[in-house]
Amino acid sequence: MISLEYYGHSNFRLTKNDISLLFDPFFTGNPVNTANPEEIDCKYILVSHAHGDHIGDAISIAKRTGATIISSFEIAVMAGEEGCKSHGMHIGGKHSFEFGSVRLTTALHGSGISGGHACGFVVNFFGINIYFAGDTGLFGDMELIGRMDKLDYALLPIGDNYTMGPNEAAQAAGLLKPKAVIPMHYNTWPLIDQSPEEFKKNVEGEFGTPVHILTPGETLRLA
Ligand code: NI
Ligand code: MN
Repeated sequence: MISLEYYGHSNFRLTKNDISLLFDPFFTGNPVNTANPEEIDCKYILVSHAHGDHIGDAISIAKRTGATIISSFEIAVMAGEEGCKSHGMHIGGKHSFEFGSVRLTTALHGSGISGGHACGFVVNFFGINIYFAGDTGLFGDMELIGRMDKLDYALLPIGDNYTMGPNEAAQAAGLLKPKAVIPMHYNTWPLIDQSPEEFKKNVEGEFGTPVHILTPGETLRLA
């Protein structure tokens, strides 16, 4: 069984058996989080960029659990200096891990760290392809991302203001052509309040792609 747990904002945990992978582990200070970061177990932590609502508790969780932080070179070096295990990559590159592989993708956003770039990830996790867009605006090369790896799930920000809003994210779904979409990065603060139900209706109506709305604390079974 492969499961995807949602902790609100862009914070997810992907698990199969004893291998868990966290995306952008923003627990402390996340107003919609329901979990205790001191009880979160994982082997890998993927960090899309160094803004506080994404790098979040990555360093402290990595120190406590011995998890490896997978991120851009700049963040990996910083995590290494903090005493964490880390694996640096960069946009366009792919690497194999025990669970499958990770490809770093473009994200149109600030890096939050000197000299860096924000990124997204295409993760092959025991045969399931998941695109985690990170924080990004809409870009046409999303079509290429969907062509390189047939996507089972696309995790897309819909909050607007800092990232794509619901209309842009719907067009992203059209370019990526995933089997299903999961919205993220919304309803954490009033500034990014959105209606995921309306987003779901639009994506399903225009592209026929199912949208799974997760509430913080909810777990979706992927396989
Ligand atoms: Ni950001
Ligand atoms: Mn953000």
